[in-house]
Amino acid sequence: MAPPAVLILPLLASLLLLNSNRASAGCEPATCGNLTVKYPFWLGAPSQSSPEPNCGPPAFELWCAGNGTSATSASASIRGSAIHVLGIDYAARTFVASHARVATGDDGVCRTDLNMSSSIALSPFRISTTNRALCFLYGCENGTGPDVAGDGFVNATGVPDCGRAIYAYLGGGYDRDTPPAIDTGSCKYAYLPVLGSEAATETAADYRRMLKAGFLMDWAGAGTGDCEACRDSGGECRYSNASAAFACLCPGGGGELRGSTCPGDG
Ligand SMILES: *[C@@H]1O[C@H](CO)[C@@H](O)[C@H](O)[C@H]1NC(C)=O
Ligand SMILES: *[C@@H]1O[C@H](CO)[C@@H](O)[C@H](O)[C@H]1NC(C)=O
Ligand SMILES: *[C@@H]1O[C@H](CO)[C@@H](O)[C@H](O)[C@H]1NC(C)=O
Ligand SMILES: *[C@@H]1O[C@H](CO)[C@@H](O)[C@H](O)[C@H]1NC(C)=O
Ligand SMILES: *[C@@H]1O[C@H](CO)[C@@H](O)[C@H](O)[C@H]1NC(C)=O
Ligand SMILES: *[C@@H]1O[C@H](CO)[C@@H](O)[C@H](O)[C@H]1NC(C)=O
Repeated sequence: MAPPAVLILPLLASLLLLNSNRASAGCEPATCGNLTVKYPFWLGAPSQSSPEPNCGPPAFELWCAGNGTSATSASASIRGSAIHVLGIDYAARTFVASHARVATGDDGVCRTDLNMSSSIALSPFRISTTNRALCFLYGCENGTGPDVAGDGFVNATGVPDCGRAIYAYLGGGYDRDTPPAIDTGSCKYAYLPVLGSEAATETAADYRRMLKAGFLMDWAGAGTGDCEACRDSGGECRYSNASAAFACLCPGGGGELRGSTCPGDG
């Protein structure tokens, strides 16, 4: 019969290990393809319950579809929605997103009749004002389109074939309430945010690429707390579901949750 110590020592060691890991359990930066996911974003999964404290606010939960370790086949969506996250700039508090309805396949231009602002209306994200407005005119009665010969209109009819006439126009800054003022003829009018670059070499003719490349969103007003200050004080950034607020998880003891930063030792 084995002496008790042989059984107990490994048990103690693993308990200690569990204890020292508790503070960071589950919230280390994760990856989905080439996306690094860390606070305020976090990787969840369908029908997976959120721990308390959580790794980030509910609106920042990403689901990773496809092969998460492959840069080309993985894709991150906001909780399985049509909004996909293509890149995150943590310092600027912005991310590039695309909408599956217009970014999937090569015929997204046929499905541009959506209001992107209302698609994200219930989230704490804002469509950045640095985006440009990509306009589409369709359903033009009696074939009466805009004057495509002039002023930057591109005849997108048949490229690909949507079974109806479509004209594209690249406007200035995206404003969710005010579409660019252009001659729409008798056509219906939709406009979507697309990435604006300072070089601004895109033209309306690049509509297919621009729909896939997505647009910029920011979370500056989302109340995600000052994660940097928490980290600088030795803590880890969390979200307390119970108080619906940012929480700083401090080392030592039972892993104390504090409102902003960990107590200094001075
Ligand atoms: C989070 O808090 C809300 C309100 O207190 C509660 O209804 C919900 O069940 C909680 N969710 C989790 C995952 O704890
Ligand atoms: C996922 O992608 C990685 C890297 O490309 C590859 O090594 C691995 O075999 C893939 N896994 C599956 C299940 O396809
Ligand atoms: C991530 O991978 C995609 C697809 O390969 C690529 O388009 C994108 O530029 C990559 N992003 C970064 C930040 O490397
Ligand atoms: C799009 O939706 C937003 C938010 O719901 C709304 O404020 C805006 O007026 C809508 N734009 C158009 C052109 O309907
Ligand atoms: C389209 O044609 C119909 C029938 O000829 C006509 O009544 C309507 O006014 C036309 N619409 C436009 C915008 O020209
Ligand atoms: C746009 O292109 C389609 C297909 O090539 C053509 O039938 C239509 O007349 C064009 N529209 C204009 C206003 O030139």
